[in-house]
This record gives sequence, C-alpha cells and structure tokens, in this order.
Amino acid sequence: MTSADKHSDHGLSKFHRLLLDQVRHEFTASQQYIALASWFDDRDLPQLARLYYRQSMEERDHAMMMVRYLIDNDVTTAIPGVDEIQNEFDTPRDLVALALRQEREVTKQILHLVKVARDENDYTGEQFLQWFVKEQTEEVATMSTLLNVVDRSNGNLFDVETFVARELSDVQGGESGAPETAGPSLTT
Ligand SMILES: [Fe+2]
Ligand SMILES: [Fe+2]
Repeated sequence: MTSADKHSDHGLSKFHRLLLDQVRHEFTASQQYIALASWFDDRDLPQLARLYYRQSMEERDHAMMMVRYLIDNDVTTAIPGVDEIQNEFDTPRDLVALALRQEREVTKQILHLVKVARDENDYTGEQFLQWFVKEQTEEVATMSTLLNVVDRSNGNLFDVETFVARELSDVQGGESGAPETAGPSLTT
C-alpha cells in the first residue's frame, strides 16, 4: 500500500470502511452518554449521573481501541465527528430507554461487522471483534435491567439511585483481554 492509498478511502475493504464508521458510532455513544449523565447530574441524581459519565468513558475507549486497530493495520485514521445528540427528555425513563436502544443498535452494528469480516476472510478483524461481542451482551443486559428497575420504581428515583449504587457501582470496562487503545485508556 502506498502512502497515497493509505490516506484515501479507495482500496479499503468493506470491513475497514465499516470499522471507520463504527469509530464515529462509538464517539457518538460517548457524547450521548455525557448528555444523559449531565441531565441526571443537573437533577441531583448523582448515582445515575456517575453511571453514565462512566459509560461515556468506556465508549471513548471503544472508539480508541478501533483507532489503535486501524493504525496497526495501516488503514486511514481520519477521526470523524459525531452524529446528533439528544438532550431533550420528558421523563428519566426516556434517558434509560435511549441508552438501551443505543446499546441494541451498537450490538447490531458489531454483529454486522463480524459478518462482513467473515465474508471477506478477514480473520484478524473477526478476532478483534470478539471482545466487543461479549461487551455488547453485558451492556445491553445492564441497560435492560436498569430500565426494568426504573419501571418497577413507580417514579421513586431514590429507589433507582439506591439500586445503581448497590448493584452497578462496580460496572467496569477493561475486563481481561480488552483490545489496546490508541493512547491511554480511561477505564482500565
Ligand atoms: Fe461501545
Ligand atoms: Fe456501549
């Protein structure tokens, strides 16, 4: 690959093009989680705020793992902006429901990436994604549980705060086997 090729989109595999898109999706998720966290923070719900600030850092790490991978595989690494962020919400439930929708969407994207890597016989790419597949299962499960707790609380956010403090305070990224980030990781 010449350096001219390296800095253009041409000649990229479909997998590499989609992985570049995924960097944008992860940065968007990170920024969206800051919006959720600051909404809760502003309404004196510190546990929910902390949970989503932390999630935001994890999403940034996911993006930076992909940047690391792209650099290591000599793929162009033009850093994307983020998509539109939602900041208007009617109820606390709306924020948790958005988080769950977002995680389900990312899961779909990751599974599609796996399929494309497999179709293109990109074993390195397919192996790189395995950690993300596992991570998505955990994140969807966490957000799904939290939405159930919100629904069962009948509007008593103090109960939700207690649950988050008790059950979700040690939700960690950076389980063993996590891919390396470009630059320092925020969560490991
Ligand atoms: Fe992510
Ligand atoms: Fe996530």
